Amino acid sequence: MDPVLSIQDLQVWYRIYGGYLKVVNRISLEVGLGEKVGLVGETGCGKTTTMKAVMRLLPVQSKVPAGRISFERQDILHMSNTEVQKFRRQGIAMIFQDPTAALNPVFTIGAQIEDVIRCSGSVKGKEEIHKAAVSVLENVALPDPERILGNYPFQLSGGMRQRICIALAISASRRLLIADEPTTSLDVTIQAQILNLIRKIVTERGTSLILITHSLGVAREMTDRIYVMYAGTIVETARTPQLYANPLHPYSVGLFRSVPRLSGGGFADGIPGRIPDYLKPPGGCRFQPRCPQAMPICEVEIPGLFPTEEGHTVACFLYQPAGGRQ
Ligand SMILES: Nc1ncnc2c1ncn2[C@@H]1O[C@H](COP(=O)(O)OP(=O)(O)O)[C@@H](O)[C@H]1O
Ligand code: SF4
Ligand SMILES: [Mg+2]
Repeated sequence: MDPVLSIQDLQVWYRIYGGYLKVVNRISLEVGLGEKVGLVGETGCGKTTTMKAVMRLLPVQSKVPAGRISFERQDILHMSNTEVQKFRRQGIAMIFQDPTAALNPVFTIGAQIEDVIRCSGSVKGKEEIHKAAVSVLENVALPDPERILGNYPFQLSGGMRQRICIALAISASRRLLIADEPTTSLDVTIQAQILNLIRKIVTERGTSLILITHSLGVAREMTDRIYVMYAGTIVETARTPQLYANPLHPYSVGLFRSVPRLSGGGFADGIPGRIPDYLKPPGGCRFQPRCPQAMPICEVEIPGLFPTEEGHTVACFLYQPAGGRQ
């Protein structure tokens, strides 16, 4: 079956004073129908940038020198603005890390949800739209929906605001939900509730999910398959149980080792060094300056994705089949 979303060979650069930050470096990623996919990697590796490219939300100072993004066979990068509006309303929804920034402070929650429902075109008539808004809030287990619809964002807690964002994201039926670190800004006690809610909704509706997280624990609970990202490249992909049983890329191995120290601030303790300077990234494997197993070839050549078992591929010369080694 065709994937719902397919990213091929995508590059994204940001123009800054002094040149281009070459952030996303030829990544490929696919999401199947109803599949829950995790995108895992430390802060700054380009997760949000990749998803902004999918949503056509990249800022003006960016450029996409190469790549293709297809959503249900539509070519996202070449859509007209009108087509983009339509696909954001009906095809893909995104939940952002900061629920405060995603809501408009000057409109009531009701006005914002009703607007999304109206634009989706699935329900018509003032009363019907209001009823649909109430049921959307009920779906995300918010008590007293009528009162909340009359509230402004500042009158609600962070957890409630993120529920509203999820409500907005699912208020029109979308085929793909992108959740970008949806619980990072929330209280620990609320995090599990929000993740359970996302899982329940996507499972019930058969919606495909891309969950972006720097937490391996969250990814394990929530996803069927994982892409590990490092410095703008996909370094490993595997079905979730395969990856946890047998991480292979030296970066993934370091990531798993640093889990106990992982408290939302990155993996610095587990893997010495930092993400490279995107103005002048290393020419070969981008992990080479930090890699304990680096070889001479790693400095000059970019490793391809080598399959190691069914469904498991690794972008590292250590896994290049013997016949292909130079
Ligand atoms: N608008 C922008 N202009 C310049 N650089 C940016 C911009 N947005 C992100 N970046 C840079 O791109 C890199 C990747 O950022 P991002 O995609 O947010 O990573 P992640 O979501 O994995 O933390 C970072 O180095 C960040 O500073
Ligand atoms: S390709 Fe080389 S530098 Fe990159 S992860 Fe593998 S061994 Fe390390
Ligand atoms: Mg991000």
